[in-house]
Amino acid sequence: MSVTIGTDEHVFIPGKTGSGKSFLAEVYLAGFNHVVKLDTKGEVFERRKKKQPIWRGLIEGKDFTVIERLKDIDKVETPKIIYAPVFEEQTLEYYDSLLKWVYLRENTTIWIDELMSIAEVSKYPPYLKALMTRGRSKDASVWALTQRPMDIPTIVLANTTHFFVFNLNLPQDRKKMAETTGMFEFLDNPGYRNFWYYKDGEDDVINATLDVS
Ligand SMILES: Nc1ncnc2c1ncn2[C@@H]1O[C@H](COP(=O)(O)OP(=O)(O)OP(=O)(O)O)[C@@H](O)[C@H]1O
Ligand SMILES: [Mg+2]
Repeated sequence: MSVTIGTDEHVFIPGKTGSGKSFLAEVYLAGFNHVVKLDTKGEVFERRKKKQPIWRGLIEGKDFTVIERLKDIDKVETPKIIYAPVFEEQTLEYYDSLLKWVYLRENTTIWIDELMSIAEVSKYPPYLKALMTRGRSKDASVWALTQRPMDIPTIVLANTTHFFVFNLNLPQDRKKMAETTGMFEFLDNPGYRNFWYYKDGEDDVINATLDVS
């Protein structure tokens, strides 16, 4: 299966922990030019500790830069950025400032590694809405990943073009995906390391896996 995703199209990736969401985003987005990963889980520190590559296939300092404070973002010279905020910056205000930066910069994809960390059903950074509803014209796109599609703002689902749906533990999460898209395949899990792929407006759902070996 080969999927082409435009840099002006929003992507939504739900799935339970360990299902492969971040892996998919990491592999696909390595091929994009300007990407900002919002790493609220501190995955970068975990990988450093385990001496694992921070972004598979890419080189730190050349392809991407890790920052922990938002004030450093304008100094970055690499096309990609990982923002793993320090504790004081793990607030809605900082997340909104980051999203605003992406919105104003244009031609940039923001990879939100866990949407639940920054947004609830009815409480979310205003610039998330700006990006979701007006990002297209600016070539600014959102890749939103989450373990719980039930708990995220409708604005995200309503403006998404590409869905990659991994295994979800809770039936109400699967139901939410089925109801939002009208595709009832989502009521079943796709299987270990597999995902359902659906493009908004199309009438079929594909079961696939990402094989990078
Ligand atoms: N298609 C794949 N091929 C090989 N390894 C994979 C694949 N998908 C995921 N993995 C591995 O499985 C582990 C869990 O995947 P990943 O970190 O992407 O999960 P996740 O859905 O982002 O989980 P969480 O919600 O906890 O962040 C990682 O070590 C990752 O490298
Ligand atoms: Mg992850």
